[in-house]
Amino acid sequence: MKVPSPAVTSNTPRALRLPKAAAVPGSKLKLPEPKASRDATLRLALERRRSVRDYSAEPITVQQVSQMLWAAQGITAPSGLRTAPSAGAVFPVKLYLVASRVDGIPPGFYSYDVEERSLTMLQEGDKQELLSKVCMDQQCVADSACALLLTAWYGRVRREFGGAAEKLVLLEAGHIGQNWHLQAAALGLGSISIGKWDTTAMKMLLPMPRDEEPVYLLLAGRP
Ligand SMILES: Cc1cc2nc3c(=O)[nH]c(=O)nc-3n(C[C@H](O)[C@H](O)[C@H](O)COP(=O)(O)O)c2cc1C
Repeated sequence: MKVPSPAVTSNTPRALRLPKAAAVPGSKLKLPEPKASRDATLRLALERRRSVRDYSAEPITVQQVSQMLWAAQGITAPSGLRTAPSAGAVFPVKLYLVASRVDGIPPGFYSYDVEERSLTMLQEGDKQELLSKVCMDQQCVADSACALLLTAWYGRVRREFGGAAEKLVLLEAGHIGQNWHLQAAALGLGSISIGKWDTTAMKMLLPMPRDEEPVYLLLAGRP
């Protein structure tokens, strides 16, 4: 006899909501398809976007996170071109998700695969309190539901663009960040850019390849 699984609601304790498949480092979580947003025009999203520092404890959903990641770096052409422009289409910015309160994503640190639209867990556990300390004790970091960390891989962009590499990568990160913000606003969520942190502590807390540098942190959550 098939035992019915309990209904999952926003009151269900977090541990019961977590899919077991992605609960250990190395496991992969395929994200749901991004859906066309019908509830906000671009103009409304532009008007609504504001830096939000106060977040409710209510979780956001895996569908919302999937949508924001797609907005940040979704593939929108058969050639592999993406939602944000990239100098020389080199795509030197890598995406990582720090999930804290997301229904359907166990708390942890994940890398985002743009082509597969999947998350791979790199480290298990809620990092938001420690991340807040890394960001000079900014409370909004601890209170947000998730954070998108953008890192720069300078290798190929330096070979192609020499001394302009750093400027080009930072400009690209800005495009990606704005896409995240506008999608969050369109979904009725709050978001903010964070640029103030200790780089050494960030690299210790969120281990990334040696040749990547953290360049931008973007939060989101229910306002
Ligand atoms: C690159 C960048 C870094 C930022 N870093 C922080 C930060 O570390 N902490 C913070 O509270 N706000 C940060 N902000 C948000 C700005 O304070 C905010 O954008 C500004 O006050 C304008 O308000 P608005 O975004 O609501 O229009 C950052 C914004 C940018 C663009």
